[in-house]
Amino acid sequence: MNAGIGKTALITGASSGIGQELAKLFAQDGYNLVLVARSDDKLDRLAEVFKSNYDTQQITVIGKDLSQEDAAQDVYDQVKAKDIIVDVLVNDAGVGLYGMFGTDTDWEREKAMIHLNVLTLTQMTKLFLYDMLARNEGKILNLASLLSITPSPLMAVYAGTKAYVYNFTQSLINELKDTNVTVTALLPNATDTDFFNKAGAENTKVTDELQDPAMVAKDGYAAVMAGKNKIVPGGLKNKSYEILAYVAPQEAMAAAMRGKMAQKPEPDAEKEDSVSVAWAVGFGIAVLAGIALTIGYKNTSDFKKARYKYKAKSAGSKAKSAGNALSDALSSTANTLLNSIVDSYKSTKNEAIDLTQQAKEKGKELKEKGGKLKEQAEELVA
Ligand SMILES: NC(=O)c1ccc[n+]([C@@H]2O[C@H](COP(=O)([O-])OP(=O)(O)OC[C@H]3O[C@@H](n4cnc5c(N)ncnc54)[C@H](OP(=O)(O)O)[C@@H]3O)[C@@H](O)[C@H]2O)c1
Repeated sequence: MNAGIGKTALITGASSGIGQELAKLFAQDGYNLVLVARSDDKLDRLAEVFKSNYDTQQITVIGKDLSQEDAAQDVYDQVKAKDIIVDVLVNDAGVGLYGMFGTDTDWEREKAMIHLNVLTLTQMTKLFLYDMLARNEGKILNLASLLSITPSPLMAVYAGTKAYVYNFTQSLINELKDTNVTVTALLPNATDTDFFNKAGAENTKVTDELQDPAMVAKDGYAAVMAGKNKIVPGGLKNKSYEILAYVAPQEAMAAAMRGKMAQKPEPDAEKEDSVSVAWAVGFGIAVLAGIALTIGYKNTSDFKKARYKYKAKSAGSKAKSAGNALSDALSSTANTLLNSIVDSYKSTKNEAIDLTQQAKEKGKELKEKGGKLKEQAEELVA
């Protein structure tokens, strides 16, 4: 039987990206859903797809701008008015903003981002947590980020909001430890959604290496179901990044992130000219191949479709890695980090040697003084 039958999950930011993938997983498990975002048309379409494909039947759509004052209270009131009990709350809705804080970014957008990422998430948690505690059951999943634990130049305010989400969540976990209510923080690395486009960061080096939102959602879903404190999706690579963030000096992490958030280098004009013809031809062939494949795809069996999908995926990933110019930047970033860690280790080691030397000298001096005092005492006694 589906685990979610008779239960309800409320998901903010369900209209795209990670939130949409999470909503799909809840729908597949038979949860009733409350879907919240500004694009209610997208949410309506999603609700139809879920109802016709999965066991979920009751889906409530709330079109709401969550960056507005008391938006959370309004969502809560609408849910209460429909007598819906929320068993799982997913605070996913969030935005970023790219640029130098002092000169480039717009305060109104930053204010709205802080409101959405911090204030609304906090108020949603407060309102629904109160009811969960009264029933002594419930689950909350908060979208933090790997940026929650590192500084991120050029995304300074965004990283600050995510640091808040992570810290807030970890404090709540302690406050709730003697209850049956759990709170989980999800800390994805850069993920392939509309996030970077909307933030104005679509041309940054970090976008060369994005992970799959379905994978992120799957790990997040498993973690919230298990009541885990936190989850870093993406296996060993992201886990080691997390550990590095805890041990490396903040300056080094900031430098590394600055490198990742830098704009991709402009291809030089000559090179661009020489490749533009090839691009045009290649693009034309790709479009024609795409049309042919789409027609073929529509008329083919499910098994073949799966094979085509697999082949397309592996061709896509090969193309991606072939065109990937990130390795230089990454290795220099890793070097910066490593050098900085080595430097700080060396200076700590040197300080320790100095201190030992000073202690030895002090010891010698005290021993000599002690000897003299002893001689004086012996003279006095004599
Ligand atoms: N992508 C990444 O690299 C990444 C990494 C770590 C963490 N995250 C976090 O993951 C969460 C989801 O982001 P995503 O990557 O899935 O991006 P996304 O595809 O852009 O999705 C963002 C979602 O938030 C909703 N939203 C944005 N502004 C809103 C507002 N004012 N009111 C209500 N809903 C709003 C959007 O819906 P409407 O536009 O329809 O309102 C959309 O459903 C965010 O909290 C983000 O910080 C993302």
